[in-house]
Amino acid sequence: MIIGIPAEIKTAEKRVAMSPANVQSLSDKGVKVLFQTNAGDAAGYPDALYTAAGATISTDRAEIFAQADIILQVQSFGSNNENSEADLASLRSGQLVIGMMDPLASPQAAQAVAEKGATAIALELVPRISRAQSMDVLSSMATLAGYKAVLMGASAAPRIFPMLMTAAGTLQPARVLIMGVGVAGLQACATAKRLGAVVEAYDVRPAAREQIISVGAKPVELDLDTGESEGAGGYAKAQGEDFLKRQRELMTAVVAEQDIIITTAAIPGAKSPILVTEDMVKAMKPGSVIVDLAAERGGNCDLTEQGKTVVAHGVTILGPENVPSELAYHASQMYGKNMQTLLELILDEEGNLNLDFNDEIVAGTVVAHKGEIPHPHMRKLLGLPELKAPESKLEPETEAQGE
Ligand code: NAI
Repeated sequence: MIIGIPAEIKTAEKRVAMSPANVQSLSDKGVKVLFQTNAGDAAGYPDALYTAAGATISTDRAEIFAQADIILQVQSFGSNNENSEADLASLRSGQLVIGMMDPLASPQAAQAVAEKGATAIALELVPRISRAQSMDVLSSMATLAGYKAVLMGASAAPRIFPMLMTAAGTLQPARVLIMGVGVAGLQACATAKRLGAVVEAYDVRPAAREQIISVGAKPVELDLDTGESEGAGGYAKAQGEDFLKRQRELMTAVVAEQDIIITTAAIPGAKSPILVTEDMVKAMKPGSVIVDLAAERGGNCDLTEQGKTVVAHGVTILGPENVPSELAYHASQMYGKNMQTLLELILDEEGNLNLDFNDEIVAGTVVAHKGEIPHPHMRKLLGLPELKAPESKLEPETEAQGE
C-alpha cells in the first residue's frame, strides 16, 4: 500500500493533509508514504520531520499520483475548483482519493472522479455519530475558525475585551454577540469569554441554549417558534423568509448594543441566512465590528463581501475566507488525526484497503466508486436515477493492495 500526500495547490491554502505524527502511524503499519517536497512548510512541518517519520520525499507530483494507491488532500476535487484539472487527469482507475470536496455545492466533482474509475471519499460527509467524531473534519476546522474569528474581531476593534480598572480610569468590557452556536460559535463564545468580554449568543436550535450557558455565555431569548429548527444530524434546517424576517426584527435591538458580532450560521449545502441587515448595521455603534464566518456561503450580513474587509455606516465588516488555513499548524494536526482515524477504519491490519459499504461511515462518505456515484443524496443532487440494485455496488469488498 502506498499513500501519497501531494502539496496543497489552491491559492492561500497553508494546511497539509497529515502531520509527521500521523505519517509515523502509517509507517508503523508498514504503509509507504510518498510526500511531496515542501508540502508541510506553510504549516510549520519541514520535510525532515516527514523523512524521520518514515516518508519518502518526492519532488514529482505526477509521480505521487502515478504511484499512490490512496491520495490524501485537504482541498480535493470540488473544494479546489481553481487548479485541480491536472490532478484529475492524473487519477487512475482503482485509486482512492480522500479530502474535502465540498460535495453538496460541487457534486459534479464526484462525477468527474467516477468517470476516471477512481474512488473518492468526501470528508464533509462523515456522519455525526459518536464513532465518527474523531474523523469529523468539519468540527475540527470549525473549532479553529471560531477561535480565530474572535481574535480577528479583537484586532479590528478600537477597544479591548476585558474590563480594566486602572489609574487612568475604568474601561468597560467589550460586548460580544455570537450568532449561530454550532461548533465554531461555541468556540467563539469560549474564546471571547476567556478574553474577558461580556458574551451573548443566539442560535435557532433550542438545544444550543444549554451549550451556550456551559461556556459561560448568556443565551439571547427571542419570542420565536423554533420547535422544528433542527434537522438530521443536529444541523439546522433552512428557515422560511417569514421566520428570518421576524428573527431580524427581534434581533435588531440586541445587535445595536454590541461591540463585536461573530456570525457563523450555516445551512449545509445552502446559501447562509441573512441575520444582520443593512438597517441593523446602521443601528450599531461606530467602531463596532462584524466577523462573518459564513462569508464563503454568501454571508450572514447583507453587507459582507467575501474575502474583504468593508467599512459601512462606521462598522467594520470582515468576510474572511478559509480561516482554518490561518492556523495551519494545528489545523493540519487535527485534520491529519481525523484522516488517520478514517484510514484506521478502511485499512486492515496489513494495511490493505477494505471498504465495507455496510458501515455507515463508508456508505455516507464514498461519493465515487467503480465508475459510479453510490451515494443516494449525491445522485439526487446530480439528477441521476436511484441505483436499481445498490447491493451489486455496495457489497463489502477487499482490495488486496498490500505490498
Ligand atoms: P453549522 O456550521 O452547520 O451551523 C452553525 C450554526 O448556525 C448551527 O448551530 C445552526 O443551528 C446555526 N444557525 C443556522 N441558521 C440559523 C439562524 N437562522 N439563526 C441562528 N442560528 C442559525 O453547525 P455545526 O457547527 O456543524 O453544528 C451543528 C450541530 O451539530 C451542533 O449541535 C453540533 O453540536 C452538532 N455536532 C454533532 C457532532 C456529532 O455528534 N458527531 C459533531 C459536530 C457537530
